[in-house]
Amino acid sequence: MTITRTGPMLPAETFAGRTVVVTGGGSGIGAAIARYLAALGAHVVLVGRRPDVLAEVVSDIIAAGASATACPGDVRDREVVEQTVAHIEETVGSIDHLVNSAAGNFRAKPEDLSPNAWRAVVDIVLHGTWNWTQITGQRAIEQQRPASVVSIGTVGAFRGGPTTVHSATAKAGVATMTQSLAAAWGQYGIRLNVVTPGPIADTPGTVRLVPSGEENMVAQNLPLKRFGTEEEVADAVAYLLSDYAGFITGANLVVDGGSTLLQ
Ligand code: COA
Repeated sequence: MTITRTGPMLPAETFAGRTVVVTGGGSGIGAAIARYLAALGAHVVLVGRRPDVLAEVVSDIIAAGASATACPGDVRDREVVEQTVAHIEETVGSIDHLVNSAAGNFRAKPEDLSPNAWRAVVDIVLHGTWNWTQITGQRAIEQQRPASVVSIGTVGAFRGGPTTVHSATAKAGVATMTQSLAAAWGQYGIRLNVVTPGPIADTPGTVRLVPSGEENMVAQNLPLKRFGTEEEVADAVAYLLSDYAGFITGANLVVDGGSTLLQ
């Protein structure tokens, strides 16, 4: 099937003058979102644990004539997140938008999951998202500035993840966190939404979660008969983050080729 998409759906200056933080911006969907938002005029700050991959995405963005910096750091470490936010405010400016894309996941039988494996994934996904979202929200409220947040979800949060209970549970928490904060912070002009991707081609998540050799079968089982693209996820994220979605908060936009319609 031909995809007739010809470029970003939003105007090129949609995020001009805005500072956007993308956690997990060094690889996969996070990196695609970072590139996409930079192309729409944002100054993108990439956060992640691996300085080398962050630097690579930053240099690609700059080579394309857009603007980005890297702030290496672990989303699980509250003190590091606080220091990073202070550093961004000093060197770039106040944070207008946040994308929580940092995640950790692997397939494992629930009965085999070690306490440390459970903790590692729940810490990254749930606590990492909380750390970045709460501090960004606190700063926006103090500074009386609007802000918007998009967190990346998973279809396992709706239908269960038999081999990814750690991630599905943590992402379900992120979805409920998003609704709770959307209700609490709407009065301050802070909007929060979730984008839930299904299988997306050539991402670390799909490589980890779809058994090798079964990609075609998994795709054929989807109503739309193909994997999604990173750009299709980035379109949804950019829309919800932007002022064009100014009346949308607490929503969960599912970009999954219909996978949640199936058993
Ligand atoms: N199956 C079972 N257990 C696993 C595992 C796997 N494939 N990979 C890691 N673990 C366990 C480790 O054995 C360890 O538990 P133990 O101490 O009881 O042995 C625990 O998870 C923590 O692993 P560690 O590598 O020390 O943690 P980390 O914080 O460096 O890494 C992970 C976090 C485990 C989530 C790692 O996979 C990661 O960093 N992933 C990021 C990228 C990613 O997952 N992207 C896809 C998103 S969809």
